[in-house]
Amino acid sequence: MAMLEPSLAFPVLAFAFFLCFIMSTGSYVYFQFVQQWPPTTCRLSSKPSNQHRPLQRFTIHGLWPSNYSNPRKSSNCNGLQFDARKVSPRLRSKLKISWPNVESDNDTKFWEHEWNKHGTCSQETLNQTQFFERSHDMWMSYNITNILKNASIVPSATQKWKYSDIESPIKTATQRTPFLRCKRDPSHPNNSQLLHEVVICYDYKAKKQIDCNRTAGCWNNVDIKFE
Ligand SMILES: *[C@@H]1O[C@H](CO)[C@@H](O)[C@H](O)[C@H]1NC(C)=O
Ligand SMILES: *[C@@H]1O[C@H](CO)[C@@H](O)[C@H](O)[C@H]1NC(C)=O
Ligand SMILES: *[C@@H]1O[C@H](CO)[C@@H](O)[C@H](O)[C@H]1NC(C)=O
Ligand SMILES: *[C@@H]1O[C@H](CO)[C@@H](O)[C@H](O)[C@H]1NC(C)=O
Ligand SMILES: *[C@@H]1O[C@H](CO)[C@@H](O)[C@H](O)[C@H]1NC(C)=O
Ligand SMILES: *[C@@H]1O[C@H](CO)[C@@H](O)[C@H](O)[C@H]1NC(C)=O
Ligand SMILES: *[C@@H]1O[C@H](CO)[C@@H](O)[C@H](O)[C@H]1NC(C)=O
Repeated sequence: MAMLEPSLAFPVLAFAFFLCFIMSTGSYVYFQFVQQWPPTTCRLSSKPSNQHRPLQRFTIHGLWPSNYSNPRKSSNCNGLQFDARKVSPRLRSKLKISWPNVESDNDTKFWEHEWNKHGTCSQETLNQTQFFERSHDMWMSYNITNILKNASIVPSATQKWKYSDIESPIKTATQRTPFLRCKRDPSHPNNSQLLHEVVICYDYKAKKQIDCNRTAGCWNNVDIKFE
């Protein structure tokens, strides 16, 4: 087998190391800040229902470093794993309100899962404390529950909405395009879908809000229920 030309060996090795670096840190381009409507999460949850908390307000699901080319790629990166001791009592009490585990009573377990799966991919930008503090601040900056209420979009078992009915007041309030995620309505799988999550997007530094691209989310032309 021919040896690499010495003049080529360095660039080739450097490129290989660069690729390893990219893969281990999980490069990302922007953040998706995902808030969930707990009643929908609980309704579709496979966890024991006696522990569900279907709170009637949007709560944090996660802050996901993301890539346009592959929205689901960046996850489970190498890096420091979740350390509960780094969550100060003050931060803990804030997260218990903004980021509860609505499927079980162990909030810490949910934070651990989200950090290990997503937070580890943006550690070069936000360490564990910053990741959770920034997420809480994002949650505080727009009250999705109240924005929808102000537009007369309140939980109802009968009313149905178009995607734009729900998108529009959020877009007006945040001045950026959000995107909505839905779940198939188990009672009417072909005729309606349940509003599950509202995503707002932030730049690489998690500071400036940007327009989201509407990727997989709700189905087109299927009515949305919010209940
Ligand atoms: C993100 O997208 C870029 C450009 O397509 C790609 O090079 C990189 O590998 C992707 N990273 C991840 C973690 O998917
Ligand atoms: C809650 O989850 C954390 C993280 O997985 C774990 O360390 C802790 O023991 C759990 N607490 C209870 C009461 O199960
Ligand atoms: C995170 O970074 C901030 C700012 O650099 C620093 O003050 C803090 O100690 C770091 N926290 C952790 C848990 O690493
Ligand atoms: C939004 O308002 C509701 C009640 O009006 C409250 O329960 C919830 O905690 C608020 N959320 C935020 C992000 O302030
Ligand atoms: C509430 O709704 C009105 C119009 O119905 C709108 O002008 C206003 O910006 C809304 N406020 C918020 C906080 O969404
Ligand atoms: C929903 O639509 C699929 C195909 O489009 C059909 O096979 C199925 O029977 C329908 N289900 C109901 C409950 O109408
Ligand atoms: C998403 O939006 C970004 C920024 O506007 C753009 O560069 C990118 O091409 C878009 N990607 C897709 C898949 O639409």
